[in-house]
Amino acid sequence: MANKIKTIGVLTSGGDAPGMNAAIRSVVRTALARGLSVKGINRGYQGLLNEDMFDMQSRDVSDIIQKGGTILGTARCMEFKTPEGQKKGADICRKHGIDGIVVIGGDGSYRGAQALSRNGINTIGLPGTIDLDIACTEYTIGFDTAVNTAMEAIDKVKDTSSSHERCSIIEVMGRNAGYIALWCGVANGAEDILLPEKYDYNEQAIINNIIATRKKGKKHHLIINAEGIGHSTSMARRIEAATGMETRATILGYMQRGGSPTAKDRYYASIMGAYAVDIMLQGKTNRVVGYQHGEFTDFDIEEALNMEKSIDEYQYEISKII
Ligand code: ADP
Ligand code: F6P
Repeated sequence: MANKIKTIGVLTSGGDAPGMNAAIRSVVRTALARGLSVKGINRGYQGLLNEDMFDMQSRDVSDIIQKGGTILGTARCMEFKTPEGQKKGADICRKHGIDGIVVIGGDGSYRGAQALSRNGINTIGLPGTIDLDIACTEYTIGFDTAVNTAMEAIDKVKDTSSSHERCSIIEVMGRNAGYIALWCGVANGAEDILLPEKYDYNEQAIINNIIATRKKGKKHHLIINAEGIGHSTSMARRIEAATGMETRATILGYMQRGGSPTAKDRYYASIMGAYAVDIMLQGKTNRVVGYQHGEFTDFDIEEALNMEKSIDEYQYEISKII
């Protein structure tokens, strides 16, 4: 099995994440070091269907480890969700001599990888998302950078919020997951942290908390609201009306997805990229790479997609205390 793989492809799919370039660089250089050829596929599965690909050499990934985004580009591709699109993708791989593909993305991208695998192409997925919402892994490429970017931005909003004695609602990304919100809530010392996994829509409790902390002399009130709850602007209006405290909403948005990756994202993405190539060479396919209990590991894609992940109860309880 191992000697069957001569050429691999690499693509990034779904939302981009800082550290994807470090992963691409590592996939390319590890594969070349193992004697393989590498094709970079532009714009995710859309690029595969368009046969938009090029041969990659070591120099093609020079000077990218520190860059945000993905040099390969990314896209959402509806055609790839159809059996016809998936078969076409596998046929294109065969036409270009691609024996296996490393797919860097989230759960949706793994389903695409699974489909390719069913059509005879070896696939390994890497967890690339700022949301940390992939159940089989404690680490996803981009989360660390995104949370640090958001934390720094929130510190700045907090400065002006304190000067003006205002309440600030700051909305952070995460799709349906509250990990960025939880981490920022703790790291920025928020008074309230609203997570989709936990929020009971009891706005009165937040209002009561603001009134109580104001009585104790608090000059600001910081609420971190997860994107999965949303509606920060209307929430701000209602809170201001109910508490009399000037309240502003800030939606951090896409800035959280960009920027130079942290050392952690560069390092973990680099190791994961190499790991993906090496397990493919061992004959593994239809796998996704994860990080658990201090070790890099891999899971069957179906198994990984069926796993569940939730906010740790103890960490959540502490976030409310402190
Ligand atoms: P993420 O990978 O970050 O979860 P998406 O859910 O948008 O992002 O998925 C990225 C791409 O993966 C989609 O645009 C599509 O091309 C492909 N994809 C998603 N779901 C499937 C599916 N069920 N079958 C095949 N391909 C899929
Ligand atoms: O998955 C990463 C993410 O930034 C989420 O936090 C957010 O919900 C989503 O992507 C936004 O996606 P789009 O780029 O399609 O607006």
